[in-house]
Amino acid sequence: MKKVYLETFGCQMNVSDSERAASSLESKGYEIISDENLADIVLFNTCSVREKTEHKLYSKVGKIRSQQNLRKPLIGVLGCVAQLEGETLFQKSQGIDFVLGTKAVGRVSNAIEEVLNGRKQFLDLGKREENYDWSVSETQRNSPHVGFIPIIEGCNKFCTYCIVPFSRGRERSLVAFQIIQQVLKLRDEGIKEIHLIGQNVNSYRPKTEEGLEKFKGATAFSRLLRAVAATGIERIKFTTSFPRDFHSDIVDAINENENLCNWVHLPVQSGSNDILKAMRRGHSIESYLEKIDKIKSAPERISLTSDFIVGFPNETEKDFRETLKLVEYCQFDSSYVFKYSPRPGTPAFQMIDNVSEKEKTIRFLEFEKIQKIYQQMALQSYINKTVDVLVEKFSSKNPKELSGHTKCHKVVNFESKFERNNELMGKIIKIKVTKSKANTLYGNVI
Ligand code: SAH
Ligand code: SF4
Ligand code: F3S
Repeated sequence: MKKVYLETFGCQMNVSDSERAASSLESKGYEIISDENLADIVLFNTCSVREKTEHKLYSKVGKIRSQQNLRKPLIGVLGCVAQLEGETLFQKSQGIDFVLGTKAVGRVSNAIEEVLNGRKQFLDLGKREENYDWSVSETQRNSPHVGFIPIIEGCNKFCTYCIVPFSRGRERSLVAFQIIQQVLKLRDEGIKEIHLIGQNVNSYRPKTEEGLEKFKGATAFSRLLRAVAATGIERIKFTTSFPRDFHSDIVDAINENENLCNWVHLPVQSGSNDILKAMRRGHSIESYLEKIDKIKSAPERISLTSDFIVGFPNETEKDFRETLKLVEYCQFDSSYVFKYSPRPGTPAFQMIDNVSEKEKTIRFLEFEKIQKIYQQMALQSYINKTVDVLVEKFSSKNPKELSGHTKCHKVVNFESKFERNNELMGKIIKIKVTKSKANTLYGNVI
């Protein structure tokens, strides 16, 4: 039995593709292992959203090929770097045996067989097969207790800095009845929480309304949310939402349905209208804040998170101050912040990257300092409260502690009575929160 090690970089879409690649390999008799050093085949599912994420691939491949051991695993590259570089990847990074584009993940076993049969530098950038199997085997889930369901692939937005529309192609929505079938299957398997995923989930626009006919809603996405809620699965989360397509009816759907979780990830990137325009995000700060106000007015607190880029070309100190002002207004529960990274092939690559690395770092650190204050405030607001936690795993730092997420997607760690106690795993239980640290809540089982 050939052993495969698969490492994933990048977003949840990649994690989800990896789940399916591993499932299909497993069904064809490969063993998926977690020790890279024992592998016959090493696969990297790659990300090119920033230069640093792309370079992870090159250093990984370099490291394997420089090892002097006898085992010389085959190396396959999947995902966004594979799609964008195609054939040139074989020259850029010596020692790669095959390259599979973002739509070709379903054919990973075919690529391996081609190479085992002697094909050199095998390349597949082809389309998704008609009968592509979207299901994931129980053993290959990223988290055994959470199901990822892609509802829309690709992106049509072409923000000027972003490579994703090039690596993932145009938006394509899955038909609702297929999504609902997957949810029902997961529910029947005992899965408590599903994540509807996509680059922009709320741009969901299927070719037919099949499966949505009975559901009200201002957009196809809010009809889908209500349809998925009606399956009765315990928890539904969705990510990422795109501000321009964020309709207030999404908040109404959350308010109406206990199982639609109170968490919205709504990346804004900048607090300056000038920068938003240069980024071609297609919305203004004012329209973004209207959506934030609607989210904040919900009767049950909705946790709000975002993404930011600092140091976009021509971002002035004043633009950056406006970003901080927006953070102070929105008080995000947490935010990812990135230094602008020019990506070849994107429109912004033509602009001069004129904010110095030093200035980018200063803004990055200042952003983090302010954001941390609001993050702490949000976490502290849960102290002495009781929260429902889906128990997902043992804490990596302390084997006596279990770890899981709340409905509003906060990480909660708590002591279990016995070391390696499995009894609570996969269940939703009540925890009284006692304290908070940087990114985590701590508490006790009630
Ligand atoms: N579709 C989502 C996000 C996709 S990429 C959205 O529109 O919000 C995830 C995050 O990576 C983005 O939100 C952005 O903050 C960051 N990002 C994308 N391209 C980048 C670049 N060239 N440099 C730095 N950060 C980038
Ligand atoms: Fe990239 Fe913009 Fe599409 Fe998000 S919406 S994936 S940032 S192009
Ligand atoms: Fe990265 Fe591709 Fe996702 S570039 S962020 S893995 S869509």
